[in-house]
Amino acid sequence: MKTWTIVALVVAVLALGLAAYTWKITRPAPAPPAAAPAAPRVGCTACHTKTAEADHTLGAEALAKPGHPTKAPDNTPIDSSTKFQTCMECHATASTGKARAASVAMAYIAHPAHMFSSIFGPRLNGTCWSCHTLDAQGRFLVVPEKVDVTDKGIPTTLPIPTLWVPRQGLVSGTGG
Ligand code: HEC
Ligand code: HEC
Ligand code: HEC
Repeated sequence: MKTWTIVALVVAVLALGLAAYTWKITRPAPAPPAAAPAAPRVGCTACHTKTAEADHTLGAEALAKPGHPTKAPDNTPIDSSTKFQTCMECHATASTGKARAASVAMAYIAHPAHMFSSIFGPRLNGTCWSCHTLDAQGRFLVVPEKVDVTDKGIPTTLPIPTLWVPRQGLVSGTGG
């Protein structure tokens, strides 16, 4: 009688072990955690920087275009330190509606190149507010330099120190 109890116990333990093992090998793999959206970045240089792996500066974006000019009208060389306002010496939309000294205005380059990109929106969580802030007249001011923002994309230093007013130019210390 005692022997049978031991045998029954051993069988029960083995069955339990087998059940646990089968459950472990057959259960579906847990779903990978949903990727958190990329933290908001604001200002051209929040993304257009030079890293050890690649040069994504505005100057590099320009020089990647075959035959692109290498100097601005004021003689500033176009390189990885070139600022937005230098690009705009040629690519700003003038009051005539045309680019100042290029055939394509920056608004016509930057809007489609970012909004249709498979990287800017889908991977970097970029939106209009990665580049713009509104003023009281409803103008889409451009944010050329990186600004620090909260996890909701709200700038932590206001007013934004440097802004570009379309069809007008650079302003400092006046932005909302
Ligand atoms: C949130 C990140 C981000 C911000 C902010 C950003 N860019 Fe970009 N930009 C990108 C990415 C990513 C690409 C490459 C798009 C692709 O190839 O799909 C790009 C490409 C470009 C290009 C190349 C377009 C072409 O025709 O090859 C220019 C020029 C450019 N950006 C200018 C700007 C300017 C000017 C600003 C600020 C007003 C700005 N970007 C802000 C991410 C950003
Ligand atoms: C000296 C004037 C000048 C300056 C400064 C300049 N560009 Fe250009 N850019 C041109 C010209 C000219 C072209 C050729 C096409 C055209 O006429 O618009 C061009 C073309 C481009 C193109 C390709 C547009 C397309 O049709 O695909 C991009 C992108 C570009 N520039 C980005 C920049 C950026 C970013 C900067 C600042 C780092 C810059 N450019 C500075 C004159 C300039
Ligand atoms: C990658 C940066 C970037 C993004 C994203 C972006 N813009 Fe712009 N936007 C610019 C630049 C650069 C200009 C040109 C300023 C100039 O020419 O003086 C501009 C100009 C404008 C202007 C003024 C046009 C004019 O000719 O006076 C409006 C309006 C505007 N953007 C609306 C938008 C809206 C709406 C979105 C989102 C759907 C958007 N932008 C997304 C960079 C951006």
